[in-house]
Amino acid sequence: MTFVRKPYIAGNWKMNLDRSRALDLIKTIKGRLGDGSDREVAIFAPSVYLADVSAVAQGSPLGIGAQNFHFEDDGAFTGEISARMLREVGADRVLIGHSERRHIFREPNDWTGRKVRKALEEALLPVLCVGEKLEERQSNRTDRVLRRQLDAGLTDVKPDEMLRVTVAYEPVWAIGTGEVATPEQAAEVHAFIRKWIHNRMGGEAAQMARILYGGSVMPDNIRGLMQIEDVDGALVGGASLKADTFIPIIEFDQ
Ligand code: 13P
Repeated sequence: MTFVRKPYIAGNWKMNLDRSRALDLIKTIKGRLGDGSDREVAIFAPSVYLADVSAVAQGSPLGIGAQNFHFEDDGAFTGEISARMLREVGADRVLIGHSERRHIFREPNDWTGRKVRKALEEALLPVLCVGEKLEERQSNRTDRVLRRQLDAGLTDVKPDEMLRVTVAYEPVWAIGTGEVATPEQAAEVHAFIRKWIHNRMGGEAAQMARILYGGSVMPDNIRGLMQIEDVDGALVGGASLKADTFIPIIEFDQ
């Protein structure tokens, strides 16, 4: 039997919006969501707004997640937030290893595996972000970079857990640049990621795992991206900040 992966559209607000605009946007998205049976929609909000945002989203299938956390349970980690704290304020998922965490904040690659493990233990759905920089693509190192990121991020994940783990492929050169990966580029890398999962965890895990594309996703390119075989959804940055651009993305024709 073939496993049908539910399309997953997520907005990553990054460090944007203020409290009242954030709550308005959640209300609008909530009002436009169906029963969640044919697609999964989630927002990754700034942590300080999570409690309010998840209160507004309550009673709807809208998922609410954080953009980062620390893998320890508690202790002397000034400025950090634990997985359990995120659960307490209503988050049900979390981004791990976003390229901005890796490159601006120099988060080590090997932290991602500890975070994925901790998220699963604390019942948060992890979205592991991977992707190569422009110079890595230009010097034909895309596969090597992705393999290193997948090796680290999924190191302690068991095959049956891939139902709860999502991988987001976000080429760094496509983030916030308006330059979206071509269908060929996205198809090639998504197939590579699924094959990696297949080799490491077997065919069932590879069939269950959802792989999102991220990087300049817009209302006018979502449909083409979603038609690519191994693209199961999108992680949307800039276009998730306004209802005018995010609603048409979540309402793409299947
Ligand atoms: P943009 O959609 O603004 O390119 O951002 C992509 C991204 O980083 C989502 O996590």
